[in-house]
Amino acid sequence: MKKDFLTLMQRTPQELKALIETALKLKEERKKGVPHKYLDGKSVAMIFEKSSTRTRMSFEIGIRELGANPLFLSGRDIQLGRGETIKDTARVMSRYVHGIMIRTFAHERAGELAEYASVPVINGLTDTYHPCQIMADIMTIYEKTGRYEGIKVAYIGDGNNMANSWMNGCAQFGMDLAVASPAAYRVDKSIYEKALETAGRHGSSITLTESPEEAVKNADVVYTDVWASMGQEDEARKRIKDFAGFQVNSRLMSLAGKNALFMHCLPAHRGEEVSEDVLESQASVIFDEAENRLHIQKAIMLDCLGGN
Ligand code: CP
Ligand code: NVA
Repeated sequence: MKKDFLTLMQRTPQELKALIETALKLKEERKKGVPHKYLDGKSVAMIFEKSSTRTRMSFEIGIRELGANPLFLSGRDIQLGRGETIKDTARVMSRYVHGIMIRTFAHERAGELAEYASVPVINGLTDTYHPCQIMADIMTIYEKTGRYEGIKVAYIGDGNNMANSWMNGCAQFGMDLAVASPAAYRVDKSIYEKALETAGRHGSSITLTESPEEAVKNADVVYTDVWASMGQEDEARKRIKDFAGFQVNSRLMSLAGKNALFMHCLPAHRGEEVSEDVLESQASVIFDEAENRLHIQKAIMLDCLGGN
């Protein structure tokens, strides 16, 4: 059966940890200039229905470094943008390429693509999840701290795709998570309940609060994301008001655990969800996270598409 990567729940914790081990190995090889063209001669399509800097670059370069051909397909330029169905697109593309990455709006679109494609589909962000980002983030935490279990992550801000994927990530890796959001911007209840059940089995906890101060207590990692995600541009002004008090700044960082890391998936809105000084501080590992997208996605592609 083909292997998709749409959410972190499609793998066991052991499999997710193995992906990080592979990514660390590929990172080392790249540093030493050791080629790793394990997908030589294959082709991977990248469908983007939303903007991207990191995902586009890291996938495109990663695909090339694995010896495969990347095809960048903007949703605006292909027939999908003119109403061709996902299910037809999936079956057509499967006749040409060996794998598909998609960044889209409704998560169901990625699910439908995976259902009809006979080749693996990788989620490069939907309105509901961003699993590749979380894998890069957890890899970064592992590099910095040497462990997964017992790490406490505080996620401050919108109960969005990043928050949902953090719940899955912490539940799978046995990490503790505290999510602080304003009441109207809480995480999805059903994703929370499912993650809670998984976390229970792996000995970790997920707590929801409206207090950023409470969430960051003893945190090893303080994480935030934009208040208005792609597709929510019209709400940006209202959200700045609604999220007052939820900025990650030096005051909030001082209430976190000693040596706490600051993380952000980027792009960041300086002065909104995070202050300039925190973003530029010693605690900030934002560019390590961005770099690790490249390495972890190579590992994910090898897992889904297989080597030669
Ligand atoms: N973090 C992330 O996915 O960035 P892009 O939107 O630039 O791809
Ligand atoms: N929540 C953000 C993440 C961007 C990487 C968005 O969906 O726009």
